[in-house]
Amino acid sequence: MDILDVLAGEHGVFYGQFDDLERTLPLATAAEEVQVQAALLGAAVEAHSALEDDLVFTAVEPHLDAGSPDVRGLRMMHEEIADGFGRVRAARDLDTAREEFAGVIGLARQHFLGEETFLFPKARTLLTDETRAALGATWADRRGVMRAFGMWR
Ligand SMILES: [Fe+2]
Ligand SMILES: [Fe+2]
Repeated sequence: MDILDVLAGEHGVFYGQFDDLERTLPLATAAEEVQVQAALLGAAVEAHSALEDDLVFTAVEPHLDAGSPDVRGLRMMHEEIADGFGRVRAARDLDTAREEFAGVIGLARQHFLGEETFLFPKARTLLTDETRAALGATWADRRGVMRAFGMWR
């Protein structure tokens, strides 16, 4: 199982959630309502970001020129996205919570696009099939997918 296909597949799940949230955010009637949704999405996005940092970014970096600004930029965006979720959590009123949440969804969309158009294609050329499959197996283990069968290598 190729780690890049797996991570792109996770993006696909998020896109559905982003669409749904963007449609329903205007209907929220209290900051807490927005914050509950943001907490759920934020936990999932942060787990996704951590897997990318630990598996793909770390594997790709040694192949790129000194501290590739592009990978550094994408890593920094993971922090900016996490900060955005923090601002939703800290919001004191509905409008602020909604605005911050819409902002973080927009940033995540932009970030995912950067990965899909730059980082993942680049990583596909830099990492061997075996490395990408081994990283996919580590992903399955960390996500707890089919662990009992140990069948993803
Ligand atoms: Fe990412
Ligand atoms: Fe991603």
